[in-house]
Order: sequence, then structure tokens, then C-alpha cells
Amino acid sequence: MIEHDFIPERYSVLIDEGKTTWRSPSNIALVKYWGKKENQIPANPSISFTLDACATTTSVSFKKRDHFDEGFSFELFFEGKEKEDFKPKINTFFKRVEKYVPFIKEFHFTIETSNSFPHSSGIASSASGMSALALCLMDIEKKLRPETTQDFFNKKASFLARLGSGSACRSIEGDLVQWGNHKETDGSSDLYGIKYPYQVHEVFKNYHDTILLVDKGQKQVSSTVGHDLMHNHPFAENRFAQAHENLTKLKSVFKAGNLYEFIKIVESEALTLHAMMMMSDPYFLLMKPNTLEIINKIWAFREASGSNVCFTLDAGANVHVLYPEKEKTEVYQFIKDELVVYCENGQYLCDRIGYGANKL
Ligand code: DP6
Repeated sequence: MIEHDFIPERYSVLIDEGKTTWRSPSNIALVKYWGKKENQIPANPSISFTLDACATTTSVSFKKRDHFDEGFSFELFFEGKEKEDFKPKINTFFKRVEKYVPFIKEFHFTIETSNSFPHSSGIASSASGMSALALCLMDIEKKLRPETTQDFFNKKASFLARLGSGSACRSIEGDLVQWGNHKETDGSSDLYGIKYPYQVHEVFKNYHDTILLVDKGQKQVSSTVGHDLMHNHPFAENRFAQAHENLTKLKSVFKAGNLYEFIKIVESEALTLHAMMMMSDPYFLLMKPNTLEIINKIWAFREASGSNVCFTLDAGANVHVLYPEKEKTEVYQFIKDELVVYCENGQYLCDRIGYGANKL
């Protein structure tokens, strides 16, 4: 599909008001998206596990406006309170998607949103937040165009979510989602995420992700600044090529359930992301001493026990500890005994692979 396919010709039904509510999860990238071009087009393809517990629930009530003058009309409530400082982000999102959902000028919206995880956890909510909002808009579009197919609905929801935040396009479906053109993945696209189209071994079902909150502070590098660092980065081209190679390698890893190779790719991706930031101009160091303590403990535990536990990182100090379902008892015990001590106020979140967003 091309961008033009997402511009609607006309709507077949007229409605005056209504309400829709969606719960959309976060996701954790295994091959990282880091670097983008104009219009939220990724510089390299990425793949993620869709999460389950970490999610945003968003309700959008809509009512036809009397006059569709300039500008969008909406109110925004976050966890029950009106949130003025979130409004510019929504306004930018509306501007970017207006061409594809032209009805948004015709309605006044009341947006009510909340997260399942604490706002101050340092966990990015843009993936779950933007995907939940995109799904609400798509649901309204479906009311105006009931002939919309499920496949088109998912693709366009992902397309719209991407315009809000790149990684959000990987939060519509589960359990593994790939985004970005990759010549060895059929159906892959820079415009939206797709459910991973190849065989995935049983061992990856119900995979666990325990998120260790090492630093709950505000992100030091916003994703916009972060992605910009890849422009004129001396290692950018090699990094983008490496992401393509890692996706190719993952194909046989997923099929065979090869956890040894899986761990090598996932940990290397996490460290490469941070290495890119350390070599940028300006440079950043987003790991904290406790991030390194945790990584070393994970490596020592793996060495001593033969466990398949591994880690990945976002653009911050928190550590995602990934492990298969059948090792959950031992690994969880290890986390409690040896890793929680490195978390800010001992806080961590238990999550696992999920199957995508739901309408409530
Ligand atoms: C490190 O999706 O937050 O988490 O498109 O600017 O909103 P924007 O960026 P964002 O970047 C995510 C970067 C990452 C890696 C990943 O999720 O693939």
C-alpha cells in the first residue's frame, strides 16, 4: 500500500456524536528504530514484542461542531485532570493526520486518557498513548465508513499511530510486529507495522519482560533529539545496514527457537543503540551505574546457571529483563534476590508478550 491509499474519498454515513474507548499496549523493540527521515519514515526497519500489562486506555467522545472554523477543537484529560501541557503534542498529531482523517475538523473531541503504569516511572507512554488515540480515530472513521475491512483498519491505525510516534505503529497488533522496509520480509513497509509473517517457535510464546526502574526521572534525550543525532552520524550507514542484517538473522532464530542467537542479537542491539548515542555530536550517556550493575549480574547469572535470561534497553537507564515462560520461576527469584536492589525505590514492573490493542 502507498500513502495515498490512506486518504479517504468520501464517507458513506453521517453521524453527530458518539464515544469510543481503546486500550493499547506499549512495546519493546528487539531490533531498534533509531534515526528517521521526513514524515516519520524510519531510517531502518525494527521489530518488537508487543507488551501486555503496560498500556494506555483512551476514550474519545465526539460531537459535531456548529462551525468548522480554523483549528481543532478538543479537551484533554489525563488521569481525570485537564492536562494543558499535553495539548500541543495532540495538536501536532492532529495536524499530521488531518489529511488522512479529514473528519477531525468537523467534531469537538473530549479525550480522556490514563496509563496502567505510573506516570513518573520513566517508561515512555508515547507508543501506547499514540496508538490508543489512533485506534479511537480509526474507530470513528469506521462508523463513517462501515465497509472498512479489519486489515485496512489495522494498517491505517498503525499508519496514523506512526505519525504520532514512530514506535507507536508497532502497538496495534501482537505478538511480534515489524516496521520498516526490509527486502527479506514480505509485506514490510515504512508506512506501518505488520504482524510478523513467519513461523515463530513456541519458546517465544508468553515471553516475559520485567522492567527494572533504575531511573524514574525525565528522559535526558527526547526521542526527537535522539533520532536527529543519527543525521551526519559517522556510523549511521553501518548501523542501518546492521539492523537489516539482524532482521534477516532473526528469521531463522525465531523459527528454530535459537535462544543463544536471539540473546546475542537483542543485547547487541541494545548496546549499539547506546553506543550510537555515546558517539553522537553532542554525545550522551544514558546508562546509570546501576544499569551496568544489572547487566553484569545478568551475564554472571547466565554464565553460572545456563539460563536464557537477557536484557534490552530503551533510550534511558531502565533495563528490560527478557526471559522465556519456562524459566520464569528461577529468573524471577534471581531478579528479586539480586537485581531489585538496583531499582529506584525497589520499583519494577512485571510484563510479558501481549496480543495487541483492544476495544473496550
Ligand atoms: C529507542 O518512537 O519514541 O525506543 O518517532 O520520535 O516518537 P518518535 O520516536 P520513538 O523512538 C523510539 C526509540 C526506541 C527504539 C524503538 O522503540 O524501536
